[in-house]
Amino acid sequence: MIELRDVSYSYGGEALLRDLSLDLGPGSFHFLTGPSGSGKTTLLKLMYLELAATGGTVEVFGRDAAGLGRDDIAMVRRRIGIVHQDCRFLDHLPVRDNIALPLDTAGQERQGHQGELDELLSWVGLRPRADATPPELSGGERQRAALARALILSPDVILADEPTGNLDWEMSLRLLTLLVELNRLGKAILIATHDLNLIRQAKAQVAARVIRIRSGRLEMAGADL
Ligand SMILES: Nc1ncnc2c1ncn2[C@@H]1O[C@H](COP(=O)(O)OP(=O)(O)OP(=O)(O)O)[C@@H](O)[C@H]1O
Ligand SMILES: [Mg+2]
Repeated sequence: MIELRDVSYSYGGEALLRDLSLDLGPGSFHFLTGPSGSGKTTLLKLMYLELAATGGTVEVFGRDAAGLGRDDIAMVRRRIGIVHQDCRFLDHLPVRDNIALPLDTAGQERQGHQGELDELLSWVGLRPRADATPPELSGGERQRAALARALILSPDVILADEPTGNLDWEMSLRLLTLLVELNRLGKAILIATHDLNLIRQAKAQVAARVIRIRSGRLEMAGADL
């Protein structure tokens, strides 16, 4: 669904990422690790078309990202659910509206999705906080809201950037269980994380691949995890 071939990226100076190749196929499950500052978030931004590769090819749903116009990019993004590391929200809107925002942007009637919205809110444990605004939430509550927002359009690919960074272990496991369930439905999942326990837990449930960015290159992580 998303394929990188020999992709490089530089913010200006020396290349941060060099000659990366990766295929996120239907039903695939990847963990992305690597030291802080190695380029995990940058790689996710390349996949989400927030950044354009400075070398190589990014193909999304069979189309070369370099040839896509603004409208095409918007269409493609509807099929990719992203949980940002910094959980961006519109602070003046209640959580419920923030989660529903992708529906509005995609021109879909919110009315027809009320059930899904309530279900998602319950699942991430935010039903009682649905009318609060994002600044009133704890870090973990914000992360759960960000996950719910990433899922509201039933995307084919889910990219999650440190989604459990602020969650306790029980909530991390719930989040993982949801992502495993979605994966079994055929969705491609990629989780950037430092949480080795989470990776171990996932590997007991799905055939997850662990990849690591080291010195700008992508390598398969060893079996030591
Ligand atoms: N907009 C930007 N302009 C210039 N440099 C940037 C920009 N965004 C990130 N960088 C740099 O690129 C490098 C990789 O950043 P990135 O956020 O991709 O790392 P990361 O692996 O996600 O780190 P972390 O684990 O801390 O989230 C860092 O050195 C960062 O300072
Ligand atoms: Mg990051």
